Amino acid sequence: MEKKTFYITTPIYYPSGNAHIGHSYCTVASDAIARYRRMQGCDVMFLTGTDEHGLKIEQKAEAEGVTPKQYVDKIVANFQKLWKLLNISNDRFIRTTDDYHVKAVQKIFRELYDRGDIYKGKYDGWYCTPCESFWTETQLKDGKCPDCGREVKWAEEEAYFFRLSKYADRILKLYEEHPEFIQPESRKNEMIAFIKQGLQDLCVSRTSFTWGIPVDFDPKHVVYVWVDALTNYITAMGYGSGDDSDYKKYWPADVHFVGKEIVRFHTIIWPAMLMALDLPLPKQVYGHGWLLFGDGTKMSKSKGNVVDPNILCERYGVDAIRYFLLREIPFGADGVFTNEALIARINSDLANDLGNLVSRTTAMVQKYFGGQIPAERESEPVDDELIAMASALREKCDKAIEGYQFSAALTEIWKLVARSNKYIDETMPWALGKDETKRARLAAVMYNLCESLRIISILIAPFMPETSPRIQKQLGLSGDAATYESAAVWGATPAGTVVEKGETLFPRIDVDKEIEALNALIPNPMEQKAEEKKEIPGLAQIGIDDFAKVELRAAKVVACEPIKKAKKLLKLTLDDGAGERTVASGIAKWYKPEDLIGRTVVLVANLKPATLCGVESQGMILAADAGENDVRVIFLEGVPAGSSIH
Ligand code: ME8
Ligand code: MG
Repeated sequence: MEKKTFYITTPIYYPSGNAHIGHSYCTVASDAIARYRRMQGCDVMFLTGTDEHGLKIEQKAEAEGVTPKQYVDKIVANFQKLWKLLNISNDRFIRTTDDYHVKAVQKIFRELYDRGDIYKGKYDGWYCTPCESFWTETQLKDGKCPDCGREVKWAEEEAYFFRLSKYADRILKLYEEHPEFIQPESRKNEMIAFIKQGLQDLCVSRTSFTWGIPVDFDPKHVVYVWVDALTNYITAMGYGSGDDSDYKKYWPADVHFVGKEIVRFHTIIWPAMLMALDLPLPKQVYGHGWLLFGDGTKMSKSKGNVVDPNILCERYGVDAIRYFLLREIPFGADGVFTNEALIARINSDLANDLGNLVSRTTAMVQKYFGGQIPAERESEPVDDELIAMASALREKCDKAIEGYQFSAALTEIWKLVARSNKYIDETMPWALGKDETKRARLAAVMYNLCESLRIISILIAPFMPETSPRIQKQLGLSGDAATYESAAVWGATPAGTVVEKGETLFPRIDVDKEIEALNALIPNPMEQKAEEKKEIPGLAQIGIDDFAKVELRAAKVVACEPIKKAKKLLKLTLDDGAGERTVASGIAKWYKPEDLIGRTVVLVANLKPATLCGVESQGMILAADAGENDVRVIFLEGVPAGSSIH
């Protein structure tokens, strides 16, 4: 019988800076699924890669005095090295600079043009000639180029557009007919609202820079971003460049894993492009959440606040990092990354719970039976619960994985770890060992612990691919006793199996010492802030009562628009939990309305209203002076509108 195929992808990452823990998060999650499906017997295709074109890369390369290709080659090598270190089992790695991709994109672009879904039009905006860049009105700083500060002029550029607007109804219908298409569910409503605002045609070419795929029938244009990037999922399977047997075999993809910020591109633009090409649509797009620092800011290359996974792997081992990423944060939600949480997980779940269970079990089998459990075994009712739990575990994991709930799958596995540890306390093997007449009972206890660990070792393999064989080696397992099939069968350990006591799996970490060492290596923004505060000299102090007079509330930006008479101001409509109010804020230089809509900000809720340039402002929102001429609004994640802040 032919194996069922399963095709999973990560986003292709921008090699504009080295890979960080955020990229690792999505790649590790995809890897766990790919491994789980392979273990279940699927013919898996797991694709990742890099998205290498565009103005930003061109500029970075220029700043370093190298060609764009030289620039990306170096960073792509860094990504690939990290994926190897993290035991990522991708079947392919696509680079958008690969020849076959370039050819296929040109072909796709031409086909869309021939079908009338790409047309030539005009792109306009404020143009800075030295920087060769277009800016929108709101991006300008004091009416000048935000990059170099020079004069800009209104300019128009010939560009190609994709008829995205034409597909709005078909996309809405897709969501309706396939409710599973966008996951998690909550992201779907955002997409529907976005489409209902009205879809604009999408600019898909540029003439203002050259680091891109040339439009072959009009080579002063290069293909701009999303047509180049999104098509990787089919070009990597050979679509559009000769041998398309893998395309036929694996497409449509079973799932695209992407961060929540690019769900929109994957659930609106991508299906529209495929519809325009008359190709099948991916079965699902899963938008996972962000890894945040302790202060709620997103890690990102552009902010420079990234955690280096190489350092973490070196100190704790790859599996500890994989475990933490998959266990700590329910897939779909945002989660906070702190050094403290990482070490706490390693100590409690890995060193204490799993590590101890393995070392206690193997040591006892050695001590009492020289490594081989005798066949004569005597069961007792207390065994039943452990056996029932272990026997049901595989099905529970399967179900959690079906919905991409890694954390739930690992939680189930760790319930059995905990149950097994408790079983040792209940059965007290050290007491049985002192009594010659209890040998058969002791043998049963040891056997049950080994069986439970056998099942655990099989089911953790997709998440912790190094730890699984290490446990199996100590348990003397191989072949049929270590298969996915046998994980649902109690009693698969064959007679005569030899258990050895091996090295410690996860050494316990001295928390205080380690945090200190780690903080020296990895910046922890919470700590930095505390230090900065200490250094502020001579500030007039206020009492807590004074501070308490200021009512701070979380408020959600429901609408936002520029104010015609005042270039610096944006008019925000906020949901403050009780109702809507208007606030004018002098942040137009740094934010566009679309940067703010849907986000949650900190509102000074009891400020006396004031009229600014004809707009009555009912409060103000908090922002930080992040540097000379750089203002950053303070955003909140996952805080409902109206929450009080103190
Ligand atoms: O968007 N937390 O590339 P990119 C969680 N080239 N995940 C994170 C993260 C964080 N702090 N930071 C990054 C692009 N990611 C485009 C994609 S696809 C056709 C083109 C992960 O380098 C997350 O999966 O900005 C996110 O979507 C992806 O990296 C973005 O990587
Ligand atoms: Mg990004």
